[in-house]
Amino acid sequence: MMRIKVHLDKRLSESHEICIGYDFQDRIGLLIVKDHPANRYVIVTDSNVSGLYGKNFLEKLRDLGLPVELLEFSAGEGSKTMDTALALTSRLLELGVDRHSLLLALGGGVVGDLTGFVASIYMRSVPFIQLPTTLMAQVDSSIGGKTAVNLPQGKNLLGTFYQPKRIFIDLKFLETLSDDEYLNGVAEIVKYGLIDEPGFFELLEKEVPAIRARNRELLEKVIERSCRIKKGVVEIDEQESGFRRILNFGHTLGHAIEAASNFTLAHGKAVAMGMIAAAGISVESGFLTPAERDRIEKLIGNLGLPVRLPEGISQSAVLERIALDKKKEGSDLPFVLLKKIGIPFISKGVDKSLLEKILGEMKS
Ligand code: GLY
Repeated sequence: MMRIKVHLDKRLSESHEICIGYDFQDRIGLLIVKDHPANRYVIVTDSNVSGLYGKNFLEKLRDLGLPVELLEFSAGEGSKTMDTALALTSRLLELGVDRHSLLLALGGGVVGDLTGFVASIYMRSVPFIQLPTTLMAQVDSSIGGKTAVNLPQGKNLLGTFYQPKRIFIDLKFLETLSDDEYLNGVAEIVKYGLIDEPGFFELLEKEVPAIRARNRELLEKVIERSCRIKKGVVEIDEQESGFRRILNFGHTLGHAIEAASNFTLAHGKAVAMGMIAAAGISVESGFLTPAERDRIEKLIGNLGLPVRLPEGISQSAVLERIALDKKKEGSDLPFVLLKKIGIPFISKGVDKSLLEKILGEMKS
């Protein structure tokens, strides 16, 4: 088991540890007994993960003598709502959960964001642990303490910053991921190569076949480096005053593309195109070289992610979504661009005509 410490400013949050391993749920149970005593434990999961891993994990914790219950809600982004949060809190009250209890978020991004949100507000906060089961959650959403639910007006509009007590990353969970789910995580991993470490980007270029084959040893290395990069950013700017925004590289356009597809396009695929567009804008703005942009597009394509806007996603729909985002921000929409591979910066805004040009070049 590999351990990574997340050092946080203690006026805001407690420092904690990310533990990474393969098929180590028994050990996770022991660490929970030893390091996280509580009067009651509640595993919160969704209807997919419950059958795959939830019931088994529940038994493992019960075998250790822990008082554990499992709560599940329907899988999918549609459940990331205040209604589900309220339904969960009613169940927690029925179970007698109080501030000496501990929640265990077992699942992907929806489970982690929603459970973290409930943990942050239930009885003015109860401790929780993240047990991410998707690649995206393992390298991104479980780290950094962002919690949220969606509103009809948009995603993640209600939320808190609330750190977990620990994050356990078990690579065994990845074995049942669909290709789209796997690619959602791969897109975030490429992002880390672009915003932090050129050496990491080169490793990804070299290891494309192993990444596509989901080679376990390589994945362990790649997940560890991704977690180190993410936690490094969060340590500098936990509550996103500025610097943490670099983690949104590719996401401004990515979210617009995802929304323009009516959410039929997987998040990772949309982010992949968003990263290519951001690289294109960086070239046009006189920063990145065309050769670097081509390397980015090549890596993304070789990993099995799309490099062109699919038919049916119109440029005008993407631009409309960007305009909506701009309205939300109240001014120019900040864009994360690249000076070089590994050197991001936050640009104040990008001209509509430049966006049109880049999106036009990305049509299939
Ligand atoms: N996924 C972006 C962030 O955690 O800040």
